Amino acid sequence: MKKLTTGFTCAITAASCLAANPTFTIDASHAAGGVSPKLYGLMTEEINHSYDGGLYAELIQNRAFLDDATTPVHWSVVSDSDSAATIALDAANSFNDKLTTSLRLTVTKAAKNHPAGVANSGYWGIPVQPKATYRASILARADANFSGPVTVSIVSDDGRTVYATQKFSGLATDWKKFEVALKTGRVKPTAKARFEITLDQPGTVWFGLVSLFPPTWNDQLNGFRKDLMQMLVDLNPKFLRFPGGNYVEGDTVETRFDWKKTIGPIEERHGHPCPWGYRSTDGLGLLEFLEWCEDLKAEPVLAVYAGYSLKGMHVNPGPELEPFVQEALEEIEYVIGGTNTTWGAQRAKDGHPAPFNLRYVEIGNEDWFDKSKSYDARFAQFHDAIKARYPQLKTISTIGNDQPEAAQVHTRKPDMTDEHYYRSVDTFLQMSPGYAKKYDRQGPEIFVGEWAAYETSFPPWDKQSQKEPPTPNLKAALGDAAFMAAMERNSDLIKMQCYAPLLVNVNPGGRQWRPDLIGYDALSAYGSPSFYAIQMFSRNVGDEILSTTPSDTSIQGCATRDSQTGEIYLKLVNPLATPETLKIDIQGIASVESRADAIILTGKLDDSNSLAQPQKVIPATKTVRGVKPVFDYTLPPHSIVVLTLKARS
Ligand code: AHR
Repeated sequence: MKKLTTGFTCAITAASCLAANPTFTIDASHAAGGVSPKLYGLMTEEINHSYDGGLYAELIQNRAFLDDATTPVHWSVVSDSDSAATIALDAANSFNDKLTTSLRLTVTKAAKNHPAGVANSGYWGIPVQPKATYRASILARADANFSGPVTVSIVSDDGRTVYATQKFSGLATDWKKFEVALKTGRVKPTAKARFEITLDQPGTVWFGLVSLFPPTWNDQLNGFRKDLMQMLVDLNPKFLRFPGGNYVEGDTVETRFDWKKTIGPIEERHGHPCPWGYRSTDGLGLLEFLEWCEDLKAEPVLAVYAGYSLKGMHVNPGPELEPFVQEALEEIEYVIGGTNTTWGAQRAKDGHPAPFNLRYVEIGNEDWFDKSKSYDARFAQFHDAIKARYPQLKTISTIGNDQPEAAQVHTRKPDMTDEHYYRSVDTFLQMSPGYAKKYDRQGPEIFVGEWAAYETSFPPWDKQSQKEPPTPNLKAALGDAAFMAAMERNSDLIKMQCYAPLLVNVNPGGRQWRPDLIGYDALSAYGSPSFYAIQMFSRNVGDEILSTTPSDTSIQGCATRDSQTGEIYLKLVNPLATPETLKIDIQGIASVESRADAIILTGKLDDSNSLAQPQKVIPATKTVRGVKPVFDYTLPPHSIVVLTLKARS
């Protein structure tokens, strides 16, 4: 293999790197297959503070005081030289058997201009936006000598600026829920702020749960962060795979995604340790996942716990596994059952009488890690039970063609198998031209349920990768685009695919894995170059695959056609450091309009986006002139291009 000056190894052959007569031929005489209408989707789980401290808009970190068994982490005392208070966890005074502790605030000295209380620092800051209404809800009780008032405020880190404040009274010795609206004025957006609850006289107050929400997407209660939702909508996803990933499995059976514990009012949700090293509030629970799908107009791809957890635990197939099979059947009933069923009725009680549209159920996650080799039997048990009750559902095996044949499921034919690819950019460039060519077209459909190119020397699971920026640069986007083109060329078989992970809170305490598609802190968010590459691909796709032949070139690509309009979407990836002039030869068309639209993502290989520079690498739209059935087009160096060609047959 010839090494190019770009640092890429030529992905095709040494000869093609020398580009004598680079040509990209599209056979538009007939469709080579159908493009899956749900090819582009999203994968999501609680990792990198994707939900808590991310999409789930709750602003209070450790809202139920359960994050640490001994200390009220993320909470601190507020006092001045003339006031004093202490705080402590108090399991003897808990709100219920789900919120199993409380925070006791004892104010021993306070006066009108010298309040004392408690503050929460949020998920690395409380974001303050101008002219916004924040909803605080507080479960509290007090000792017999104190009934209020209590002041709740959003204040600057240094305590000098009060962005919004309100008071409430009426505390009693019994638990009560208090709801307060906090309105900001014309303030400059900042995340250097905290949330405070203070008293201006001595007293003891217990808090069972303290919640604060900013304005949410569609103003939903217990809802989602607006800027992140807009970015997800912009990706035009057709499905959402949830809740994992490792998150569905948990480190142990006990800490799996136990869906029944994630529904109902938030004060009924205990939360659980997630396998990525922090505790999940379960505020984004099963119903919220489903409503998230609805908001995105995307289909749910539901992963059910299948008896394997990450610390190597497995549940033996047979009677021991049966309760987990029932748990999955009940979960499906919650999703699609009528309100005359037990779990459909529960869903209605939780606020969503209409069943959701579910077609795919994934049984577990990455079960090739199960050293006991019990997956085939576990899969069979789930598959049979699901098919018996819901014959219309398709089952997905988590062991796909990327794993040895012997590890795959043999006793049943899964409807679909899930393949995961975390590969270096060079590996993607090398494997993409031949990807899936040898796959059995009569075999199960394929779901590439996790994939991402990494451009650093470290794979995502290597701790060293934590020292790198959380989101990938343009070089990675080139690898991603080459692989997406390969999947699109084969989308008669590759029915669904999704990049992973989707979200990362970029604070050093917020992340466990890189690369990730979308980065954010408490205040703002940005898309990586890979985000824009996916957006370019997912928003410009036809329903017919056209076969393509690159020759004498390192350019990779794919073409699809919209059978209604005749428009051809030609996607091209130039991994080289030099411009590449391609002869584009569209065979089998009568004519093509001389003007075409080109969406181009290009830059230096190590260009990337960040909170400081969110739009350094973004696509530009240009008009291409002189388009003919055979025409020359020059791709910029290091570029991803989508051409929309208005062809007629
Ligand atoms: O995407 C991050 C992790 O990678 C997923 O949780 C797991 O399925 C895979 O190993």
